[in-house]
Amino acid sequence: MGWYADDIERIIVSEEQIKERTKELAEQVAADYADRDGVLLVGVLKGAVMFMADFARAFPLPTELEFMAVSSYGQAATSSGVVRILKDLDRDIADKHVIVCEDIVDSGLTLSWLLRYLASRGAASIEVVAFLRKPDAVKVDVPVKYVGFDIPNEFVVGYGLDYAERYRELPFVGVLKPEVYSR
Ligand code: PRP
Ligand code: MN
Ligand code: MG
Repeated sequence: MGWYADDIERIIVSEEQIKERTKELAEQVAADYADRDGVLLVGVLKGAVMFMADFARAFPLPTELEFMAVSSYGQAATSSGVVRILKDLDRDIADKHVIVCEDIVDSGLTLSWLLRYLASRGAASIEVVAFLRKPDAVKVDVPVKYVGFDIPNEFVVGYGLDYAERYRELPFVGVLKPEVYSR
């Protein structure tokens, strides 16, 4: 471990597991989209940045990349349920086959809002690939077709996931020591 050794209780998804599962997911999704012409990945900033970058590079079909930034958490460790658009799509997604890339589905509030928003913009189809999902935490039922890992309902950071904007750059997903966020 590096500088973060004091803050991380344990690693729950290792760098190796991330690499392997991302490749599997990319191939699985690509098999379903082989007959479509063109796929538009919509990454949800900032959390999805690492996963989207790895997913897109493992995806064996041509894609276009688009980003939205929304925030429901702010500085807090639990979701407020209030979604704000911090950065909108740069262009029209009408008639595009959209795959939303998310780092994690927790309460599902962010995605449920986002799926309605993207549908209102006229996408030809919309599916979600989420690297992590917390099945115990889900408050709203969102259709997430592709999931990397189901994880326990603990506060995790790394591989894009933050606590108060920190830890996103960790190359693995780990559980933060409770004393870090109860400080
Ligand atoms: C986090 C995470 C997901 C969302 C999941 O984003 O990246 O986008 O929360 O939570 P939910 O299922 O309960 O809605 P956050 O709002 O913290 O913004 P960030 O991606 O910039 O960290
Ligand atoms: Mn996010
Ligand atoms: Mg966050």
